[in-house]
Amino acid sequence: MSDSSSSFISNQVSDISPVQSSTTQSQRRGSSADQDDVILSIRSLCKSYFDAEILQDINLEINSGDFLVLVGPSGCGKSTLLSCIGGLTDVTSGEIFCRGKNITQLDPAKRDIAMVFQSYALFPNMTVAQNIGFGLEVRKVPAAERKQKIQQVAEILHLQPLLDRTPAQLSGGQRQRVAMGRALVRDPTLFLFDEPLSNLDAKLRLSMRTEIKHLHQRLGGTMVYVTHDQVEAMTLASKIMVLNQGRIQQFGSPEEVYKRPANTFVAEFMGSPAMNLIRAKVIVEAGAVKIQIHREDRAPLVFIEQAATDALRAFNNQSVIIGLRPESISDVAARDPQRSHSAECRIEYIEGIGSDVYATLKLGGSDVISRLHGDSNVSAGDRQQLHFDLSNISYFDPSSQLRI
Ligand SMILES: Nc1ncnc2c1ncn2[C@@H]1O[C@H](COP(=O)(O)OP(=O)(O)OP(=O)(O)O)[C@@H](O)[C@H]1O
Ligand SMILES: [Mg+2]
Repeated sequence: MSDSSSSFISNQVSDISPVQSSTTQSQRRGSSADQDDVILSIRSLCKSYFDAEILQDINLEINSGDFLVLVGPSGCGKSTLLSCIGGLTDVTSGEIFCRGKNITQLDPAKRDIAMVFQSYALFPNMTVAQNIGFGLEVRKVPAAERKQKIQQVAEILHLQPLLDRTPAQLSGGQRQRVAMGRALVRDPTLFLFDEPLSNLDAKLRLSMRTEIKHLHQRLGGTMVYVTHDQVEAMTLASKIMVLNQGRIQQFGSPEEVYKRPANTFVAEFMGSPAMNLIRAKVIVEAGAVKIQIHREDRAPLVFIEQAATDALRAFNNQSVIIGLRPESISDVAARDPQRSHSAECRIEYIEGIGSDVYATLKLGGSDVISRLHGDSNVSAGDRQQLHFDLSNISYFDPSSQLRI
């Protein structure tokens, strides 16, 4: 973060006392990432229930101001991990550090971590203001200071007109914001959000997503956020962790996870429609690496991989799995002609979604989805000239399923 953007954040929040220490955290990000900057560090964390291993060897580190999004299929252990961090669930082995302090055995109330769960859990007979201020009251914060903090948080979350209502008099999205207000008023070291928007309709979800993003940009707090929503993950995250069956599959920036998936699981899990995984053969001929893809109705599709790594060359005469996103197979020419291949393909069926047309073709024995321009008038059975943009192609080893 540049100095100018740090001071921009500091200007934005200079009048908001509950979040001032968080601002200091983001300002610190301007300097090189040192140990002081690490907010959460998890080492070799395992969690079992009886003989079922729910989380296995979880290691991760996030810095001040990071927005870590946890994604993975239902039952993979996301909520369990959040619960271990918050102290509501004991770990079986491993350690959790918050700002360098080992909190593995620490009482949840002493962890300086605020949690927002999907179920909101508001007190039904308290007003919005009382709900937001409850944690402060418990900590014996003086009434005047409490009132000021409630007002500030209500302003951030656009809750001022609703402060005197009870939860029953609120919509789902408003209740959600009250639950967030309860967390924000505390100004903790770390926020944990477990699918906080999953109960909202698409429109409200979108506006809340924007609000959370703005909030994070303004306050610079450190977040761990669970979601099933791909777009939410991509737009909110500074880092994404993909979990499957209790194991980390990949931990990286949204761009890394999207463009350079570590294995076929991540390739298929992130993005909608998923990345196409296509069987192909590598043929090294006179130093050139050719990728050959079987087609039922025509001669194989063959292109030259200009940027072949030694690891890919080592697959000479063997099968690989190539990964191409739908947007990399299009009726529009690729940006870099050096990393592009064009071929006429038979369209098996089409699916229009207004802005785009998804056209399915058969390649390497699989259904492959291409993304065409929304105005495309292609029909099922047509032959269409398609451009394969190879600039973000992935290769995977068919036996290990790992990225080559
Ligand atoms: N108290 C418990 N006792 C035994 N097994 C449990 C317990 N809590 C969770 N599990 C199991 O641990 C696994 C992970 O559960 P968890 O709630 O963390 O999944 P999740 O990734 O949050 O899923 P979802 O996306 O559906 O919320 C599941 O198989 C679940 O059945
Ligand atoms: Mg869950």
